[in-house]
This record gives sequence, C-alpha cells and structure tokens, in this order.
Amino acid sequence: MTDASLQSLVSSQTALRRTFAIISHPDAGKTTLTEKLLLYSGMVRTAGMVRGRKGGKATSSDWMAMEQERGISITASAMQFPYKGTTVNLLDTPGHQDFSEDTYRTLTAADSAVMVIDAAKGVETQTRKLFAVCRMRAIPILTFINKMDLPTRDPFDLMHEVEEVLGIKAAPLNWPIGTGREFAGVVDCRTFEVSLFKRSAQGGSSRAEITQMPLEEFKKQNLVDADVLAKLAYELELLSVAGNQFDDKSFLRGEVTPVFFGSALTNFGVEPFFDNFVALAPSPRETLAIQDDGNEVLIDPTNEHFSAFIFKIQANMNPKHRDSMAFMRVCSGRFEREMTVKHHRLNKEIRLARSYSLVAQDRNTVESAFPGDIVGVINPGAFAIGDTISEQGGFNFKGMPQFSTECVAQIRPKEVMKHKAFEKGLKQLLDEGAVQLLRSYDHPEGAPMVAAVGRLQFEVLQYRLKSEYNVETQIDVLPYQESAWLIGDPRELRKPQSAGLALDVQGRVVVLFTGAWERKFVLERNPQHQLKDFAH
Ligand code: G4P
Repeated sequence: MTDASLQSLVSSQTALRRTFAIISHPDAGKTTLTEKLLLYSGMVRTAGMVRGRKGGKATSSDWMAMEQERGISITASAMQFPYKGTTVNLLDTPGHQDFSEDTYRTLTAADSAVMVIDAAKGVETQTRKLFAVCRMRAIPILTFINKMDLPTRDPFDLMHEVEEVLGIKAAPLNWPIGTGREFAGVVDCRTFEVSLFKRSAQGGSSRAEITQMPLEEFKKQNLVDADVLAKLAYELELLSVAGNQFDDKSFLRGEVTPVFFGSALTNFGVEPFFDNFVALAPSPRETLAIQDDGNEVLIDPTNEHFSAFIFKIQANMNPKHRDSMAFMRVCSGRFEREMTVKHHRLNKEIRLARSYSLVAQDRNTVESAFPGDIVGVINPGAFAIGDTISEQGGFNFKGMPQFSTECVAQIRPKEVMKHKAFEKGLKQLLDEGAVQLLRSYDHPEGAPMVAAVGRLQFEVLQYRLKSEYNVETQIDVLPYQESAWLIGDPRELRKPQSAGLALDVQGRVVVLFTGAWERKFVLERNPQHQLKDFAH
C-alpha cells in the first residue's frame, strides 16, 4: 500500500470511530444501556445475554471467578461494534465494588462520555467524580436521563441539578412526553418530531416499535391524556423561552451537555439517543505529546504513522497462562499485528506479537486497528501505564495522571522472612497502578501504606500477593476516606489532628482526610495552599 493510500485509509477509518465511556453512579442503568446498545447495533439479538448480572459483595477469592463469570466487567477494556455506519468503541469503566483507579484512567482513552443519570435520584456522588475527570480532559459529555418509566423528579429540576452540581450547561435535545407509567415518547427539541414508543411483547429484550409524527399532528390525534399533553405544551413553551440552546462547538469543548430522556429497560428513547450520539460524538482528535527536544506537538490521528499509549495493565487475565496484558489506545496511523515499534521509555524497539480485542471472555486476535481503537497486547514485562509506543519515535504522550485515592491501609507481610518477596510483589503490582504507595510524612521509614480508589483493590492486592508471590499479608485499613495532593508548604498547613500527611513515591505531599468536612476545613483555613485531585 502506498503512503497516500494508507493515509486515506487511516483518515476514513478515523472519521468512523466513536470511542466513549459511560459514566454513572451504580444502579443508574449503565449495564442495561450497554446491553441495549449491543441490541440496537445488531451484535446481540436479545438483550440480557451480554454478561451475568452483578451478584452480592465480591471478595478476593471470587476475583478470578468473577472475571470469568462477568467477562470483561472487572478489567477495563473495550467492546467494538458497528452502529449505523460508524465503528463504536465502548470502553468499560468498572463501577460498584470494582471501582478503581482504572475506572478513572479509562476515561483518558475516551473521546467522549455518556453520563447516565437515574431520573428519580439525580446527580449522585460517583458521577460527580467521574465527571471531574472528563472535565480535566475537556471531553464532550452527553447526558441520558434514565428510568423515565418510573416515578421521576421534575425534568427541569434534573437539568438544573446537572448545571448546579456539575457546572456545565444542560441543553435538552429531546423532551419526555409524560413520566412514569405515562411515559409515552419523546419530542425532538430541534425538529419537533415526536417519537412514540410501544412496549415490545418480549419486554425490553427486543427493540421498541417507534411511531413518528410532527408535534402538531400528535397534538391533534389525542394519543395521550389531555393533562399529559397540556403539561408537555407548557414545558415546551418554557423551554423555548428559558432553555439553553445547544451548539456543537460548546459541546465539543465540554461546556454544554445535550440531554436525552429515556428508559433503557423498556428501550423507550434508546434509539433516538444512540442515533444522536453517533451524529454528535467526535471521532478521535489530536493528542498532545512532548517531543524529545522538549517542545509540545499535537499528533494528528490521520497521520499514517502508528502511535499509541498504554492506559491499563492487567496481569493474569487468564489463570491458565498467567500472562499480563497491556491495553493501548491507538492515537494515530494503523496498528498491525507483529509490527515493530519504538518504546519511548525503554528507548528500544519491541515487536507487538500477540494482540487481542476482547469480547466477554473471548480473545479475538486483532490484525489491524485504527485511531480510537483499543488493543490488548501480551505484556512481556515491558509496559507500564502511560508508556508511549510509536512507529517513528521521538515523542512521548503527555503523562497519565494519577487520581486521588479514597481508601488507605497499612500493609505488611505476616512472616518477616517473606519480606523480599513482599517488596518484589508489591513493586510489580504498583507498576500496574491498581494501588499507590504512600509513606508517613513524619515517619517515612515506618510500614508502607497502600492507597486505592476502591476497597476491593486491597482484597485483590492481598489475593495476588498470596497467589503469585506466596506472601500472606496483614492489612489494617486506616480511617481516611479522601485524599488530595498538597500544593504549598506542608509545615505551614493548618489541619485537624485526625487528618494525615503522607508522601507518595515521587515525594509529593498527600493530605489524608477522614471525611469531606476535613477537606473543607483545610481549604478554608489555608488560603495559601491548594489541594489537587489529579497529579501528573
Ligand atoms: P448499573 O450498571 O448502572 O449499575 O445499573 P444496571 O443497568 O445494572 O441497572 C440497575 C437496576 O436498574 C437493574 O435492576 C435494572 O434492571 C434497572 N433499570 C435499568 N434501567 C432501567 C429503566 O430504564 N427503568 C427501570 N424501571 N429499571 C431500570 P435490578 O433489579 O437491580 O437488576 P435486574 O434484576 O433487573 O437484572
């Protein structure tokens, strides 16, 4: 293939890609919406078969079994499928008890995000944090207000909350006709086309039938109760006066979120949402990198030379092989199996021999991939999170941020004799980035502390130290619930006794809080200092 035809292939493939992640609080409906996306894309014929439902609380001994049972749900990777002429990459962001730094890191590989909000609950805590990561990267966000088939809060109220809590403008692109049992359809706020849904005989497991008509026609036909119609007319009137206008540019800058209403369970509003999603969500954009001479450079995805960064490492995905897989996001050019690339950090060439994409437990060999795609490569110990690989070399993608943790524990081997194996195992697992290592600021020589975004990571850590390094460990969970990096002199910091101070592996100071009030206190009392949730 000539350079020109390769470039044209890369350009056309890049334009087709939509790489995104779903952010939501547990139970808002992320799994259900994912299943419906697969249903509407034709990947599955009936929803509900994609993966097992979540069980009860997971423990370390269930870990491997959980992975097998739930396929890719623990390991943040990606599914790829076609949807109406586009190629969609849906990144899996583990939630619930699997919530970890990986969940945040996954967002660094996405070009847009879909925020799912439960219409009865509004914006919940986990959504806020995930949203903050999207803001940090300025990626566009689409909002799907789910569970409209149940009693809901007032739609205006929900939009107001999105704006207040998340600090982003909300612009509805469709509006619900009725809520709860009366939820019958949506009106497109730009074309005033009504979509009315009919429940399918198989419940939500097959597509909902849609009837479309202009709003004026719908008003004449008495298809819903008079009070539902009157409320709709009033709300649309209010929107036309007081609603935010949607504009593409502000959306792409992450300043305004288009809002859609629906019910993932019954499929109402799902198809209009997906259709808008593929039309609005951006294809891969340029990625910022630092050249070897220190200058910044934007890597154009349509450049014919391959480049990618590693955003996740998962060891022992397959207990039979005990191998480790590095997940990369392609940033430019075409990836090809067996290709030899330059590894920037190690300053050497490396052959990408075994490459896979993952659908549930099945590994499919990947022959080629394009910008926005996620490829798993067997990691011969050469990759760390944030590594850049490229065909031409000479630059490094801007480092992967670290995210502030929410759980801290002291860890030590139960047997002193096992100290060496403990240190070795801990180092390897720290390299994978599932936990961070902290030392006390006042007594750095004391027992190390491990810090994680989610508690499950401690169990996974103990399990893996035992099974892979034969070291039994004692974990003592400390009472901290939040942390942040400190900018300013730690000796001058005024803080309550209960808040702790620690150092991370790079010597940066971390403040540990037992609750949100402590953080507020520290912020109020120390105007010279700053707290940061991300560290580069
Ligand atoms: P998550 O991945 O965000 O945690 O949420 P998930 O999709 O698992 O949905 C959480 C629960 O909410 C599930 O019920 C699911 O069926 C239900 N749900 C999701 N979307 C809708 C919706 O639009 N309307 C209604 N009424 N319910 C919805 P569950 O009882 O926990 O699980 P299951 O027994 O149904 O599998």
